[in-house]
Amino acid sequence: MVYLKKSNGDYIYIPDLRIRVFQKLKLQPLKERYRALIEAGWNTFRIPVEKIYIDMLTDSGVNAISLEQLSDMLGLGLEDAYAGNRAYYKLLDVFKEYIPHKYLVLTHQGRAAENLVFRVLMKNGKKRYVLTNIHFTTTRAIVERVYGGRMIELPVREAFDTASNFEFKGNVDLLKLEEEIRRLKPENIAAVRIEYASNLIGGQPFSLKNYYETREICDKYGIPLVADISMADWQIALMKKRDPLAKGKNALSIIRELMELTDIAYASARKGFYVRGGFITVKNNDRIYEELRTWQVVFEGHTTYGGMSLKEVAMLIDGVKMAFDDELPFYELEQIEYAVKELDKRNIPVVKPPGGLGVHVDAKRFLPHVPLIPVNNQGGYPAGALVSALYLISGIRGMERGQISMDRDPETGEEIPVELDLVRLAMPRKTYLKDHLDYMIDRLIWLFENRHVLKGLKWVYEPPIMRFFEGLLKDHDNWGLELSNIYMKHFGEF
Ligand SMILES: Cc1ncc(COP(=O)(O)O)c(C=O)c1O
Repeated sequence: MVYLKKSNGDYIYIPDLRIRVFQKLKLQPLKERYRALIEAGWNTFRIPVEKIYIDMLTDSGVNAISLEQLSDMLGLGLEDAYAGNRAYYKLLDVFKEYIPHKYLVLTHQGRAAENLVFRVLMKNGKKRYVLTNIHFTTTRAIVERVYGGRMIELPVREAFDTASNFEFKGNVDLLKLEEEIRRLKPENIAAVRIEYASNLIGGQPFSLKNYYETREICDKYGIPLVADISMADWQIALMKKRDPLAKGKNALSIIRELMELTDIAYASARKGFYVRGGFITVKNNDRIYEELRTWQVVFEGHTTYGGMSLKEVAMLIDGVKMAFDDELPFYELEQIEYAVKELDKRNIPVVKPPGGLGVHVDAKRFLPHVPLIPVNNQGGYPAGALVSALYLISGIRGMERGQISMDRDPETGEEIPVELDLVRLAMPRKTYLKDHLDYMIDRLIWLFENRHVLKGLKWVYEPPIMRFFEGLLKDHDNWGLELSNIYMKHFGEF
């Protein structure tokens, strides 16, 4: 039971878990944070973890683990046979129960699964197009930069309106989907790809009705339906809350229903499956499985471990059960909802309605005076500036998910302006407490009051692909120093 009735008739959320392993955290003083930020080139990916207080960069590979996972890791996970280990066969049985697909292909992480899937479906670039609800950075890089194709996004209108409370922002625009299939011709389309709890629009789900209709269109034109289920845990939990077609169903029956409609599913297991790895499942196409397996042994490793350590293979057994548990995914959904409501009350622009993945601040509306794209070397990138400023004043690390995360057009070298320029404060699973959120909320409120001090960022070193990972920037006009001075007067070093 997660929601228990209180004596006054209201419902209260009680996390169904007890935490027994902890990690001590240390907040660095302001001058250390300022130094770390400069050394990291105003890029939160480059800040060493000992300089971080609360790490909300991502949920990927940093979730808490369960007792069952620990026990499998220290038991089955130590067997370490190169091939044919017991953990793999146990894992196959668990997959059979949750995902009614004939085949499983393990990979070392999500982008490795994407590499195999699009390598096979795009037939070395012969099928150029992948149509999707919302792209993800690694998917786009693989489809476009590795296999020379194009990813075409077909979201619903509300997806980019952060203030809209529309509950299914992850839906595909079905009219546009058919129009695009006819325009590009079905034989040129490798797949329709649907991302569960879509990452770049703030962990927003699609509806079951929209998924059924997408399936119908795929059937009509003979195009495979591919699902990115890295965050299926939150997608399904949100469906249980909001979707009339999911009412009264448990998570197991919803994932089985969704997978019956899906030809190929893949995931970064680092996210909803609590394990550093990845996987692909194939419903019933023997030829596609054969091809995937052929490339798996080239790029990933033997079929029974696929690039993962055996400890992680063993931990995935319970990871799958945790993803489709009826209670566990609500821990983070409750946290996100709480923080979104508190920030919204103070008019801080956040993505609504609360979704999965984390709290997403709309930097275009937070910093309307900072240009999205730098002009005349004056600085730009509101989300990049905001995420840096938040680290500086709090030690909290978020991630820029906006203009910096969108690479330039490889042909023209021009920036491709993004609709959403977000700061993501991810909620790693079962990792932080409400008090941590209260601190984050308080510092964001202070930053909002002092937002006029922030100016943009400009490049010092800009890598050509996925520039957000390793790029180096600096603050235009030394605004970081000015912000530090104001902070110091108000709070002191901490
Ligand atoms: C939706 C989605 N797909 C794919 C990936 C890539 O996975 P990985 O980081 O394991 O390579 C991610 C990573 O965050 C993701 O969020």
